[in-house]
Amino acid sequence: MIIEDDEGLQRQYKWNFENYETLIAGDRESAIALLKNNAPSVVLLDLGLPPDPDGTTEGFMALNEILSINPMTKIIVASGHEARESAINAISNGAYDFYQKPVDADEIGLIVERAFKLYDLECENRELQQKQYSTRLPELVTASDAMEKVCGIIERVAPTAVSVLLLGASGTGKELLARALHNLSDRRDQPFVAINCGAIPENLIESELFGFEKGAFTGAVKQVKGKIESAEGGTLFLDEIGDLPLPLQVKLLRFLQERVIERIGGRQEISVDVRVISATHQALDQYINDGRFREDLYYRLSEIVVNIPDLKDRDGDALLLAHNFLNKFAREFDKPTKSFDRNVTRAIASYDWPGNVRELENRIKRAVIMSDGRKITLNDLEIEYSEDHIETLNLKEIREKNDKAAIVKALSLSNGNISETARLLGISRPTFYGLVKQYNLNIEK
Ligand SMILES: Nc1ncnc2c1ncn2[C@@H]1O[C@H](COP(=O)(O)OP(=O)(O)OP(=O)(O)O)[C@@H](O)[C@H]1O
Ligand SMILES: [Mg+2]
Repeated sequence: MIIEDDEGLQRQYKWNFENYETLIAGDRESAIALLKNNAPSVVLLDLGLPPDPDGTTEGFMALNEILSINPMTKIIVASGHEARESAINAISNGAYDFYQKPVDADEIGLIVERAFKLYDLECENRELQQKQYSTRLPELVTASDAMEKVCGIIERVAPTAVSVLLLGASGTGKELLARALHNLSDRRDQPFVAINCGAIPENLIESELFGFEKGAFTGAVKQVKGKIESAEGGTLFLDEIGDLPLPLQVKLLRFLQERVIERIGGRQEISVDVRVISATHQALDQYINDGRFREDLYYRLSEIVVNIPDLKDRDGDALLLAHNFLNKFAREFDKPTKSFDRNVTRAIASYDWPGNVRELENRIKRAVIMSDGRKITLNDLEIEYSEDHIETLNLKEIREKNDKAAIVKALSLSNGNISETARLLGISRPTFYGLVKQYNLNIEK
């Protein structure tokens, strides 16, 4: 886009840039109007525009407005000889570059060409940063194969009524996926009701799940519907199902078989249509072996089992999520946009994240609140991290490490017999002793 009030110059530019698609505006207002329907990558902006052709106020206003509409736009400011200062001022206000009038066709051509290149690079970079699983699971951030597989399963089973069991360590996103299953099903406009079987005292779970009639027990002053009933038409999410006490497992099983409930103290059977999703971080097979979980209930709940990988097993996701949370919390707490110190990104990528996404989210949230600079440091993140944690990619170091490990293993397999060790390693005794010396190994030990 060319914003220039001098008609002669307009024609010259048009001719200069005949290889580009150009838009021309003679003042700020018509430029902004044009900009709303077009998104030019590069703008040539004359600072002296009517009604203030000899000043720069209109030009600066245009600069700000364009950048607030599209911050990625590369704006090149034209300045007269005497107005060098305002050109520099424009740069500090977000302009990409400036040039001096009278226009030199070659010079402006080069500047514009470079601006387009930079624009394209920045767009590409932004796309890469935003590369994530772009499906109908909008809140879910991932770019890893392991997690994309999971998303694929979720999308396929969501529209069906089968019961899904989500297995994953704490903080891996079980609840997020349960909600995704609901939101992608045609039950999405009906209730999603979650109950945490591990958080409710045993004697209260039954009334939570099934509800009760007035007078069913002391304190039952009115009729109360249970969670199952209130999920009618929608989805019932049984979180931490592994913690459900055995007597209630029997009652839940009965509901899953008959699809009817009875409120406590009630005599009437009420049929309920719900889709059941359950989740646990416990090893249910072990629970079944120990007699703590009913196998028949397990089979009812697990028509489809979804195993959610740990965060450390999702290649690249920790950093991707970290950037997402960083932006999210900076916005939420109204902090200036921040970035990570270089060693922080390394620490994030190599840390084990025992608490998975939840831990990552909490640490970033905390860091955003605590940090005062523009960079999030290791201190803000409170991760124990030393450079030795990172996997080295230095080939010499890798070889040395492997050599040492093989030598130790061969020594132990051969009970310390050197000839045998050398044979296992496929080297001669002198070579073996050479390596021992080189790596400074204590073979007696
Ligand atoms: N892939 C993801 N992308 C974006 N946010 C995620 C992702 N996975 C989890 N989260 C967020 O991390 C937090 C923990 O997720 P969620 O509560 O679903 O995990 P959970 O497995 O149920 O955890 P817990 O075992 O602690 O109950 C939530 O705030 C959730 O929004
Ligand atoms: Mg949960």
